[in-house]
Amino acid sequence: MRKLIAGNWKMNGALAANRALMEALLAGVQARSPACDVAVCPPAVYLAQLQALLQGQDAIALGAQDVSEHEAGAFTGNVAAAMLREFGVRYAIVGHSERRNYQGESDAQVALKAQRALAAGITPIVCVGETLQEREQGQTEAVVTRQLDALLECSGARVADMVLAYEPLWAIGTGHAATPQQAQEVHAALRARLRAALSVPQAAGVRILYGGSMNAANAASLLAQPDIDGGLVGGASLKAQDFLEIIAAAG
Ligand code: PGA
Repeated sequence: MRKLIAGNWKMNGALAANRALMEALLAGVQARSPACDVAVCPPAVYLAQLQALLQGQDAIALGAQDVSEHEAGAFTGNVAAAMLREFGVRYAIVGHSERRNYQGESDAQVALKAQRALAAGITPIVCVGETLQEREQGQTEAVVTRQLDALLECSGARVADMVLAYEPLWAIGTGHAATPQQAQEVHAALRARLRAALSVPQAAGVRILYGGSMNAANAASLLAQPDIDGGLVGGASLKAQDFLEIIAAAG
C-alpha cells in the first residue's frame, strides 16, 4: 500500500516561515520524487497561502487540522468542509487528542466530523489513542476500539475511504515514541476490527498511520511494520530536513 506522511503543524507557522518551509519541502520532494503520498496540515488561516504555494504540483497535498461536523450556519468559529474544499484541501485531521481534550470533542462528534469531511470529498485522518494511565491499566485495545466503533456506527462501510491514525497520547510531543512492536500491536488490533466490520480487502486498504514523536531516526523502523501505513508527524514536520528524511523512509 502507498504510504502517507502527513505533517501536523498544530498552532505553529507564520507567513514568511511557511513560505521558507514549503519551498524547502517542494525542492526536496521534487528532487527525490518519493513513492509515498505527502500532506501538510497548517492552521486554517494559512490554507490559502499554502494552496498558492502548492499550485501546479501534486507531490504535496494540503490538509486541514479540523473540520466542522455541521454543513453551514450559525456555528461561530467553525470551518465547514465545503469551505476547505474551496481551498484545495484533500485531507482533514479529525479527532486529534488535543481537540478531544481541550475542546471536549466526543467520539460521536469526531465520527460526524469524519462523515462530513468525506461527504465533501475530503479524506479524514481520524485519530485514536490511549492515555498512559489507560495503557498501564491494560485498556489500550478497548479504548481505540471504542473510538473506531463510533466511526463504524456513523459511517459504516464508508470507513474504508478514511485514514486512521494511532496516536498514543503519552507519545505525542514527548520525544518518547511507541516502539515499533507497541505500535504494530495496536495497528493490528485496529486492522482486525476493520476486518470484522468491513470486507477483508477493504480492511486491508485502510491506511493506518502512526503518530507520536515520529522523527528522522525512528521513522524507518516504525514504517517497516506490516500494519503501519504512514505517519502523522507533529514537531518533526516543522523542520524541512527532518520531514524530508521521514518521507524518504516511507518510500
Ligand atoms: P508529535 O505530534 O510528532 O510532535 O509527537 C504528533 C501529533 O500530535 O500529531
